[in-house]
Amino acid sequence: MFWRTDSGEAVCMTDRCAHRGAALSLGRVRSDTIECRFHGFRFGADGRCVRVPPEGEDWPIPSQLRVDTRPTRESAGYVWTWRGPEVATGELPPLPDLSRVRGMYFGETRYPWNVHYTRAIENVLDYSHLPFVHRKSIGAFIRDPVTRVRIEPHEHGFLFFQDRKGKSDRQYVDFVYPNLWFNRLGNRYFMAATFVPIDESHTDVYVRWYHRVPRPFHPLVDLWGRFSQYLVFDDDLPIVSSQQPENVDDADGDHLVPSDGGLVAYRRLRRRHQQELRRARPR
Ligand code: FES
Ligand SMILES: [Fe+2]
Repeated sequence: MFWRTDSGEAVCMTDRCAHRGAALSLGRVRSDTIECRFHGFRFGADGRCVRVPPEGEDWPIPSQLRVDTRPTRESAGYVWTWRGPEVATGELPPLPDLSRVRGMYFGETRYPWNVHYTRAIENVLDYSHLPFVHRKSIGAFIRDPVTRVRIEPHEHGFLFFQDRKGKSDRQYVDFVYPNLWFNRLGNRYFMAATFVPIDESHTDVYVRWYHRVPRPFHPLVDLWGRFSQYLVFDDDLPIVSSQQPENVDDADGDHLVPSDGGLVAYRRLRRRHQQELRRARPR
């Protein structure tokens, strides 16, 4: 769970009170601490317990009475946290490059999915499901299901094109590891999705529509952005949540075909990062 200190610093901590396990997210922020709603224990930004009301002011608070925290950093309206092994602040991986949408307006909506985030990400790196899953929406006009894809790796991920007769490269997907997806629909319009892992079976997808439309028209663009996402994701969810196994790291039994090129690139990238992490921190 996240909260902000009085000075605006974002704090990421385990959503479990160190007293008796209640969700701290049900509590409230009080002068630079998060106060548990159950018995009022208070925890500071470093996770240490600083107040135990039922024991009175003079009670020496044991140092083990603390909640785990994670480092956070902010950029372009995103709060990032590191969920990997503990590393010194200076050794944290660089933040994803968001320069492609710098200076653009954006609207945002959250869409909770009951799937592991890896399956959700793969769903948006997959053109070949469009004429089947989205046959009543964005796939309605695709007559030929044959799908040819092309990958162009870059420093932070890859560009993902669909090669179709008579189709220009105006639209393409730019995937930025670990969880950022940009669908470039033109110079002035990007759909973006950030896949936030919640647990093994839940992912929050934050969808943003970046654009340069003049301000008075923003409510209209927002309405369209929200509507189109629900239209698309409502198609996807039942089928993606039926996929087994839930986590693609366990999906060695999947038989990928050439039109799954986006997934192949994603899995390769994922394996590379996992190996680098293991090398940096041998168990
Ligand atoms: S469970 Fe949080 S204060 Fe008791
Ligand atoms: Fe889809």
